[in-house]
Amino acid sequence: MKKPGQTNAKQAAGEKASWLVKDGMVVGLGTGSTTAYAIIALGKRVLEGLDILGVPTSYQSAFLASENGILLTTLDEHPLIDIDIDGADQISNSAAIKGGGAAHTQEKIVALSSKYFVVVVDEAKYSEVLNHPVPLEVLPKARKLVGKQVKELGGNARLRMGVEKDGPVISDNGNFIMDADFRVIDNPEALASRLSQCTGIVEHGIFTNVDAIYIGKKDGSVEIQEF
Ligand code: A5P
Repeated sequence: MKKPGQTNAKQAAGEKASWLVKDGMVVGLGTGSTTAYAIIALGKRVLEGLDILGVPTSYQSAFLASENGILLTTLDEHPLIDIDIDGADQISNSAAIKGGGAAHTQEKIVALSSKYFVVVVDEAKYSEVLNHPVPLEVLPKARKLVGKQVKELGGNARLRMGVEKDGPVISDNGNFIMDADFRVIDNPEALASRLSQCTGIVEHGIFTNVDAIYIGKKDGSVEIQEF
């Protein structure tokens, strides 16, 4: 599901958004290659004395934060996060599709626990309409049932298969990931609500609570949109 490339643009967006983080904040640490630039930039500031605690959204972000000297905490200890910085697979205005790295369940828990949710993307991710397949975290037993329910909603879901692993991708929570293609999504809020009602879907990858987008460009500039 991941699109390669756009390195400069991702770096520009991730690093710029990292400057929103101030001393004393609890910070949601998203997953993926764009957020990784924010985490690395925060780690450099921590070395210079920045005092923050990170709440990771995956093994990937937990490992990267630790390697870069960022102290971690949990939502049990800090249920209200000051700012969450995370990537997206596609974004249109304040609605994003996430889960290309299979981390969207934990990402959504952290995003909805945050006072301010910032999405960092390269310009290729910004779209007039949402038409990217929607990642679904699915209980393994419900794979066929979820396929049927998605069909009833007008979509087509397929099980995501591993790349350096035989068989299906298993999420950090031990579940399957399915990618549901609905072609153009005219009303993300409505589809999000219907998917939330499906039995067997732990969480879907439509996020409708984005507060700001940092869109990195190939020339290193960053466009900021706030909602
Ligand atoms: C993780 O499951 C995803 O939601 C990522 O945040 C999203 O795929 C963006 O990743 P990149 O920044 O690597 O494109």
